Amino acid sequence: MDASDIEKDLTEILHTEEEILAKLKELAVRIEADYEGKDLLVVGVLKGAVMVMADLARSFSRHVEMDWMAISSYGSGTKSSGVVRILKDLDTDITNRHVLIVEDIIDTGLTLTWLVSNLESRKPASVEICTAFRKPDAAKMAVPVKYVGFDIPDEFVVGYGLDYAEKYRNLRCVATLAPHVYS
Ligand code: XMP
Ligand code: MG
Repeated sequence: MDASDIEKDLTEILHTEEEILAKLKELAVRIEADYEGKDLLVVGVLKGAVMVMADLARSFSRHVEMDWMAISSYGSGTKSSGVVRILKDLDTDITNRHVLIVEDIIDTGLTLTWLVSNLESRKPASVEICTAFRKPDAAKMAVPVKYVGFDIPDEFVVGYGLDYAEKYRNLRCVATLAPHVYS
């Protein structure tokens, strides 16, 4: 399999690696200003947010602590099940901590709505959300997201951590997936 085999599965590149890195740098500057003088725990949501977390965290010039949660709201398909399960919980006690959730994408908003209320029940000092991508036309729940990279159309996308059946996460760009792959 060579690169062109993967490219055949893509219909359009929505954002290149360069665009994504530049946007995350902008967000990191805002986040640093907003959390000045406060400790910050960034919580990455596995597995999709791995790339976002790696690039966002390295855009900071301050100390930042990282932890991870793995939750599941999707099977291997492209539709939200609405049912969220914790597959891996935080290692950190977040009581009185400033928590910033780092996500790959917000689609219906169901997953994050669940996650925010789960984390808020642990009595943190604050909980905010940073997402690389958001699909405004797919929203079923209004999620107050403080830091958004890009709003994208309501289409299934892959790359930069986002998968279809565990593939395409290692693409550097974010692209729409050709319907022939999943239909
Ligand atoms: P909801 O609908 O709960 O979904 O906001 C959030 C989670 O669903 C996954 N998701 C996607 N994964 N391409 C993907 O590879 C997509 O277009 C897409 N839309 C949603 C993702 O795991 C996200 O955290
Ligand atoms: Mg995710």
